[in-house]
Amino acid sequence: MHILDIVENSIRAHAKKIEIKIIEEKKKDLLTIEIIDDGKGMDKKTLKNVLDPFFTTKNTRKVGLGLSLLAQSAEESGGSIEIESKPGQETKVKATFGYSHIDRKPLGDIYESLKVLIIANPDINFIYKYQKDNANYHLDTKEIKK
Ligand SMILES: Nc1ncnc2c1ncn2[C@@H]1O[C@H](COP(=O)(O)OP(=O)(O)OP(=O)(O)O)[C@@H](O)[C@H]1O
Ligand SMILES: [Mg+2]
Repeated sequence: MHILDIVENSIRAHAKKIEIKIIEEKKKDLLTIEIIDDGKGMDKKTLKNVLDPFFTTKNTRKVGLGLSLLAQSAEESGGSIEIESKPGQETKVKATFGYSHIDRKPLGDIYESLKVLIIANPDINFIYKYQKDNANYHLDTKEIKK
């Protein structure tokens, strides 16, 4: 659900390419989720306020919960969140989780999540990279469309 939420931000920022990276590193006891988009990016003021649940640029309501809830989940498992963004440049949201931590939320149904995103957004190029120990999986909708 967090991944769908963060990708929704990218879609709203008019991204044409969205990369979703999941890395499971059991040896380091780490789960990392990264969402990188080529949307409009954030100015300094937005970036500074982005983890505040009462900050949003949506005008439908007064709360913006996507990133603050992701940060909360990461922190509950001993991890953290990093956001890099500049106007007109790539936005990167990276969340790390303590893999074996009892409060680490399960990864969920990635297949269904990706399917929904890909079908609902035919004009966006989705790249999915999954890494677990020595195994790698890579999906690029541009290649599928070709
Ligand atoms: N990928 C992104 N590109 C550009 N701006 C972003 C991106 N992600 C977040 N933002 C900015 O940060 C704000 C806060 O994001 P957040 O997901 O926390 O809340 P929201 O999207 O406003 O509301 P909600 O997620 O609750 O529907 C957004 O309103 C938007 O201005
Ligand atoms: Mg959001």
